[in-house]
Amino acid sequence: MITLNNKKPVNIYDPAYDKLFENLQGNILKGHGRNFTSHIFLRFEENKKDKVKKWIASFANEITSCKKQIKENLAFKRDRTSGDTFIGFYISALGYSFLENFNSSEKETDFFGSMKDANISDIKPSDWESGFREDIHAMILVADDNLMLLREKEISIRKEMNGKCKIVKIENGNVIRNEDGAGVEHFGYADGISQPLFFSDEIQELETKYKDVKINFSSFFPLSQVLVEDPFLKNEEAFGSYLVFRKLEQDVDGFKAKEEKIASIVGRKTDDEKEEIGAIIVGRFEDGTPHILSHEEGIIDNLSNNFLHKNSSNGKCLFLNHIQATNQRDEASREMIMARRGIPYGIFPGEGREVGLLFMSFQSDIKKQFEATQIQANHYKDLIIGQNLPQKMNLDCFGKKGKEINVENFVKLRGGEYFFAPSIPYLKNV
Ligand code: HEM
Ligand code: MN
Repeated sequence: MITLNNKKPVNIYDPAYDKLFENLQGNILKGHGRNFTSHIFLRFEENKKDKVKKWIASFANEITSCKKQIKENLAFKRDRTSGDTFIGFYISALGYSFLENFNSSEKETDFFGSMKDANISDIKPSDWESGFREDIHAMILVADDNLMLLREKEISIRKEMNGKCKIVKIENGNVIRNEDGAGVEHFGYADGISQPLFFSDEIQELETKYKDVKINFSSFFPLSQVLVEDPFLKNEEAFGSYLVFRKLEQDVDGFKAKEEKIASIVGRKTDDEKEEIGAIIVGRFEDGTPHILSHEEGIIDNLSNNFLHKNSSNGKCLFLNHIQATNQRDEASREMIMARRGIPYGIFPGEGREVGLLFMSFQSDIKKQFEATQIQANHYKDLIIGQNLPQKMNLDCFGKKGKEINVENFVKLRGGEYFFAPSIPYLKNV
């Protein structure tokens, strides 16, 4: 019998999990890893419910299951064969109310709502980009390493949907990398390092690596961290996950200028000294080196997730760095951990072109995971994602007592939505 509250990592070869992997969408338990993405936001056409359902049922055959993703990973490890175009399908609360005559306000159980109604100090929806202000019923994620193949697939999906769905918006993501080949976000910092791991091969790799080293932080999480039973398909080993999508614009010049400014006030002169200012804000250096482990970048274990935070900095500073504000790394905060699957958008910062992050996270409970994390980051005045920042911030954390500086947000919400990633059998029989 399988349980979501597994005490040990799941073995991909355990036949007991075969059905779960087959029914579950990919990209939840493991990132799809493709370099290019297209995120198609759509609204089902009114009065065409039957046609819409028929289209979804056939489109379900194109969705990449967790099982297919696992097999593609094995093939890639074996002989570098790259996987097919990745496809995911996610439905919003409004989308469900269209398909299931389901009304979130009248249902006794608390299913989920819209990001537009979230109470997390967001920029209000009337100030979002136009498409995101409209009603969104679903999002299709298409991903590939080959941009031509991605575009072809996008076009064929748009054709298929014609007359059944209105396209509200399309966003495009593209991985950007540093010289080590690690994926970075637009401020230049390695990203996607700290992740919950679910599979025994991933945990074993860490155990081998840290064979003679103390394990401070366990990366193993049970499936219940991100999976729930498909609410519309009980008792079928059919699981799904809640997805948060946020388009977050990054002011790269503003961030770098503030880093320079703080450096000059606190008397950091060399490039390495200046780099530490950014590392204090993020909690890691650009190459990923955790600031708690080293005061300069370049340690061998730069992509380490094996550390804890000092409680002592809590309360001393007016703010906490991004990785501490979003994950305290104590027992209690483990329940907030999400599987982060975001991807940058825009290629070159500057020249008036907008760049940022298409933030995506999977979880079993949006309030307890994403919203609790965002609220905590707001509370600790996280300089990366904290909202309603104070105008003045003191520089105690940068080693300058009593000095203050003006701060503003470098990351701005352009729009987003909450979705559920249904099980594939639900979609086939919708
Ligand atoms: C980690 C950047 C938005 C939650 C990180 C890291 C970077 C980063 C550089 C360190 C790499 C890693 O540990 O994986 C950004 C940028 C954002 C952004 C530039 C916006 C443009 C968000 C949002 C949330 C979030 C919206 C959630 C509300 C986290 C969490 C971690 C993390 C939970 C891992 C912390 C840990 O476990 O140590 N982010 N992030 N981030 N971020 Fe963000
Ligand atoms: Mn820098």
